[in-house]
Amino acid sequence: MSDTSAPARVISALAAQGIDATPFPMGKGLFRAGDLLLKTWRPDQADKAMAQAQRQAEVAQALTTGARAPRVLFFDAQRLVLAMPYLTGADLSARWRAGHHDVPEHAGAWLRAFHALTARDAPFWPKGQVNWLNRLVDAGQSGTREIVEFDRFRAAAMQVQARAKHARGKPCRKAVTHRDMTLSNLIRADGQTWGIDFENPKPDDALRDVFTLALDLAAMAPERTQSALPALRRAYGDTVTAPEVRLFLQQCFCLWVWANTPAQPSARQAARLDCAEAWLAAQEPVI
Ligand SMILES: Nc1ncnc2c1ncn2[C@@H]1O[C@H](COP(=O)(O)OP(=O)(O)O)[C@@H](O)[C@H]1O
Ligand SMILES: [Mg+2]
Repeated sequence: MSDTSAPARVISALAAQGIDATPFPMGKGLFRAGDLLLKTWRPDQADKAMAQAQRQAEVAQALTTGARAPRVLFFDAQRLVLAMPYLTGADLSARWRAGHHDVPEHAGAWLRAFHALTARDAPFWPKGQVNWLNRLVDAGQSGTREIVEFDRFRAAAMQVQARAKHARGKPCRKAVTHRDMTLSNLIRADGQTWGIDFENPKPDDALRDVFTLALDLAAMAPERTQSALPALRRAYGDTVTAPEVRLFLQQCFCLWVWANTPAQPSARQAARLDCAEAWLAAQEPVI
């Protein structure tokens, strides 16, 4: 949905701050004005905007070397405009598509520093995942959710559930996750890696973010996956989580990708589903 009031809100937010700069639209509710990047939200997304402004400010203050987050220069809660420094560089998705080999390393190192702010080790308890899978299968069964090849999905989900016992009680890493940890939310600029697009304040299985990065790397460049995933894992450096937990979570995340793939997928969604299918069948964890 386009947001026709965004340009006017950006202009008045800048004026309210006494900033004399002309904003240029960059698409998707983003504007550039001089060395500022302004992000806007629609009026019905106020909660999302607040969550992002708050979390980004916290993370920017905590991450100070190498792995960074842009400061919040101002947040106009009335106009839903957030200002941060404009980063002159390219996001890791563009770098990965352009063939840069250092992307898995930079992504893994950034995520390592980000999770280190909140990480704690705890025995793994699969109850949440098992219940979630039950709900998903029920939703597919009753038709409240359309899941492609549902019979095959249900069989796969039941197999994964049956393996939960192998992971139970084994070491696992929890952290406040990013929850939208894609390559396009990491920007390489000034010789540093900058994370953006924060929202989530809650702890979760840290591997969730590793999985989405792995999925992005693999889906964008299948031919480079074999070297990319070990490089990502090495740079991330989780030595705590047990292999049984990795495999179980990987399979759950793959089912999540499957359940979220529409019947008519885009090329990107189809590539992601291909990876998820392969990793669902894998005997060894890739994350
Ligand atoms: N501070 C910034 N400096 C430069 N580019 C940015 C900045 N913030 C975002 N971008 C670019 O805009 C894209 C979308 O921004 P993002 O905040 O992730 O919005 P969305 O919520 O739509 O994903 C990013 O992938 C990045 O390429
Ligand atoms: Mg983004």
